[in-house]
Amino acid sequence: MSERPTVTVVGSINMDLTVSTDQMPNQGETVIGKEFATFPGGKGANQAVAAARLGANVNMVGAMGDDVFGESLLNQLEQENIHTKTIHKLKDVATGTATIILSEGDNRIIVAPGANGRLTPELIQQHEQIIKQSDIILLQLEVPLDTVQAVVKIAQQHEVPVILNPAPYQSLPDSLISGVDYLTPNEMEAEAMLDDPNSHVNKEQLIVTNGEKGVSTYKDGVEQVIPGFPVDVLDTTGAGDTFNGALATQLANGRPLGEAVHYANAAAALSIMKVGAQSGMPSAEEVNTFMEERSDCI
Ligand code: RIB
Repeated sequence: MSERPTVTVVGSINMDLTVSTDQMPNQGETVIGKEFATFPGGKGANQAVAAARLGANVNMVGAMGDDVFGESLLNQLEQENIHTKTIHKLKDVATGTATIILSEGDNRIIVAPGANGRLTPELIQQHEQIIKQSDIILLQLEVPLDTVQAVVKIAQQHEVPVILNPAPYQSLPDSLISGVDYLTPNEMEAEAMLDDPNSHVNKEQLIVTNGEKGVSTYKDGVEQVIPGFPVDVLDTTGAGDTFNGALATQLANGRPLGEAVHYANAAAALSIMKVGAQSGMPSAEEVNTFMEERSDCI
């Protein structure tokens, strides 16, 4: 494996419109909140930034509108040294946005997909070479499901491993699940997946994230919990994305699953100590230092 593994992320690119409040409004109610800020986001772009900061060579495949948000998000991805030639700038559609309410150390998010919803399977066919040359593919569910399926099909044809972060959760066809090497739901998404009569997940594919409590993997039907790192939480937005970007980088580098998850847990813990999905995403050096300092958490 090369020093810098190639991670190709196919997914959403959003501008996050974030407001913090002490009081969550009820239906029909207006409350006065606290700070408002815009941050680059989208599960796809976040995972791409996490992987790039941790040393991967990253391709981002996605779509954005020909507008101010799109331009600013494209610049930010380029500043992270992410390859952006595979991002489609589309006419007559807005760049995706996420309206995020931060309250009591947690978040509530409404995504308006905009251009992300126009990343079609036809556009994906243009990127077969890039998918083929990748060490790993990283996917989420903020772009159309048939697009995700098209990527998985190409990856399978070229025997490139795939991680699917099934967020936000929707029912997945078996044909998709069987083409994926790893599924990384959070606890709620995992429950929905295992209860879904239409999805037949092999538990060995699962890497279930559960915040500070840690991450569960399954070997020969037995659950193995890899504990998380307790830290002071400022904003959990993007923690799962940091985990996924870090996991992809480590697995693409040939690290064993348990070690890759432990490293990804450390990266995710660091990411929640700052406001904004990407602001707190650490560099490889920061993760290594943190892991040394917290070597008692193994
Ligand atoms: O996972 C966090 C992300 O979800 C945010 O950045 C937001 O854009 C939504 O897509």
